[in-house]
Amino acid sequence: MITGMGKEINLAKSAKGPSRIDGRLKVTGGAKYSAEYNVKGLTYGVLVGSTITKGAIKSIDTKKAERAPGVLALVTHLNCPKVPGYQTAPASSKGLYKIFYDNKVLFNGYPVALVIADTFERALYAASLVNTQYVAEKHQTKLADHLTDAFSPASDNEYKRGTPDAWKSAPVKIEQEYILPTEVHNPMEMQAIIANWDADDKITVWDKTQGVKDTQSNIAQTFKIPVENVQVNSKFVGGAFGNALQVWPHEIAAIIGAKVVKRPVKLVLARTDMFTSVGYRPYTWQKIGIGATTDGKLVGISHQIVGQTSAYEDFAEPTADVSRQLYACPNVATSNKIASLDIGSPVWMRGPGYATGCFALESALDELSYALNIDPVELRMRNYADTDPESGKPFSGKFLNEAYKLGAENIGWHNRSAKPGSVAKDGWLVGYGMSGGVFGADREPATVKTTMMADGRLILQTAVSDIGPGTATAMVSIAAETMGIPADKIRFDMGDSSLPPAPQQGGSTIVSSVGSAVYLACNGLKEKFRQLAGDSTDYVKILKEHNLPKLEVTTDSKAGTEVDKYAMYSWSVHYVVVHVHPATGVVKMDKVTCVADSGRIISPKTARSQIIGGAIMGIGMALMEEAVIDHRYGKVVNANFADYHVPVNADIPQIEALFVDKPDLNINPIGAKGMGEIALIGMAAAVANAVYNATGKRVRDLPITPDKLLDIGSKVA
Ligand code: MOS
Repeated sequence: MITGMGKEINLAKSAKGPSRIDGRLKVTGGAKYSAEYNVKGLTYGVLVGSTITKGAIKSIDTKKAERAPGVLALVTHLNCPKVPGYQTAPASSKGLYKIFYDNKVLFNGYPVALVIADTFERALYAASLVNTQYVAEKHQTKLADHLTDAFSPASDNEYKRGTPDAWKSAPVKIEQEYILPTEVHNPMEMQAIIANWDADDKITVWDKTQGVKDTQSNIAQTFKIPVENVQVNSKFVGGAFGNALQVWPHEIAAIIGAKVVKRPVKLVLARTDMFTSVGYRPYTWQKIGIGATTDGKLVGISHQIVGQTSAYEDFAEPTADVSRQLYACPNVATSNKIASLDIGSPVWMRGPGYATGCFALESALDELSYALNIDPVELRMRNYADTDPESGKPFSGKFLNEAYKLGAENIGWHNRSAKPGSVAKDGWLVGYGMSGGVFGADREPATVKTTMMADGRLILQTAVSDIGPGTATAMVSIAAETMGIPADKIRFDMGDSSLPPAPQQGGSTIVSSVGSAVYLACNGLKEKFRQLAGDSTDYVKILKEHNLPKLEVTTDSKAGTEVDKYAMYSWSVHYVVVHVHPATGVVKMDKVTCVADSGRIISPKTARSQIIGGAIMGIGMALMEEAVIDHRYGKVVNANFADYHVPVNADIPQIEALFVDKPDLNINPIGAKGMGEIALIGMAAAVANAVYNATGKRVRDLPITPDKLLDIGSKVA
């Protein structure tokens, strides 16, 4: 029952529920991604990136490229048609740069030309013939050199409650700095767009995006055409993790190019460009001061942050929020600043801000637990927040204590030794670590149209897109349960801007937002049937008797006054066991248990996958991921999958995904909250904490690569 109270705590390890309804299409190649559409007259675009990091284009010689076989056009700042939206933006305003607008170069790999040819290979070859001369200026790409000139991007980025410095006079305290390197989303599918002008004021795109409606309105504004004249298609998205939440300049470039050649243009970013052009999780410096009484009651937390951003956009994440929200603590001061560097802008990446902040806070809590000689789980329970420490409001639902207990039991936490470096097995050091995670549980406006056809098929329509979690599967599950019809009778249409509006798929909001809209629309449809035929649920018969070809209902839904009454979050707890090789510093994940407190679980199989995927991404964050800039050149030197490491199957043990599975009916009628972000948030700290437990070596700068553990021999008892 969707509205019924939840099952008892679910310890089942094998997830039940429907399989992915688009799974077969995806694994057989039947799912069509944006770059795969064979639009008539298709041409191919390739971007030319700058070889300097900061400065200006002095000259750009395109003659050789233009004469190369198959080349249709070359677009640069010298010949780019005017983009109407670019002209109206105030010159001083910060925001994403305007592509081909002037001769400025803002980061290494900055797009200076677009080559369009009749084949991809010819466009790529011609791109190599473009000869650009620059006037280079001295660039700044190293955050460590700019911690002191960081600034607060918004007034609410300085936060205080109680006495800001109280932690300093606590009987037990620690103060440490933590570094998160630049991480890049790197989904399997690279950013891709096919753009076509259907008329002078009409555009169709097949585009990788997390929000077809947002992309539609952005393109309409940029080209100053009516919003209904922009058609955005994004039927399948091969992962995104946040990097398809906004319209990037390369998308505008493809639309400009299509106007120039009067044919559709396909532009797929190279993997290398994915490291510079479509955002990343920003390199971030953090300093935490935290103090407690000897019995482990938090006295105060101070959390200072400096993240990096570009010269053209003041991008900041909510990195400090975790320190305001996660624990009952009377005295908290946080400061969240950014520093401008000559790099591309960062963007939201799975668990934005919270993942970075939790690495520092949950590492610091672990350090404090050793200083106090209190078990890390026990320390967290002693500082459990029963109401939201930031707003004072009650939580809409919170079962984090249950999550702590479930995970501890599952991983065998009682086997942990409190003494670091004291347990070895088969020549490897063994360590246990844990961490909590939190993320806001929001509900966005969403509209769903539901149609019952005469033959008993149900069609659901809304403009959401799915970057991988299995949105259609969850929505069909909700509709099947609400209508009392089998899932294979239900079709879910999405990824099309002409459908009723839905939010971007981001911020772990879709099940709460669109799922509630599906539920309400189905109930609306049932009500219509009830008016026709009372309690009968033989929809086919009712339609036939009333001589109706179909019955449809469109329902708008959004959050209500509950947002004023409650603080709304999802929580996670990650427990890990690591093995560390004392001679080589290699860290092997041995066991992972993740517990989500994210309301009612709608679709157990896809929920489990979501948790496992986030956990793996968190393990990558802990042990591998780092985009390295050679600051002499301001260039990312490992912008490829050979040198930028992410976990592969061999790096990952069996991951247990557990759910508290208690509905949160204060937040929406289906009781479900998000889990996309909390799957990742906290995992890096859990691993770092386990490495400390195994070795006695605290690594505060991610990733924990073997070189950072080469001195552990001296630490081990
Ligand atoms: Mo996201 S950073 O919720 O795509």
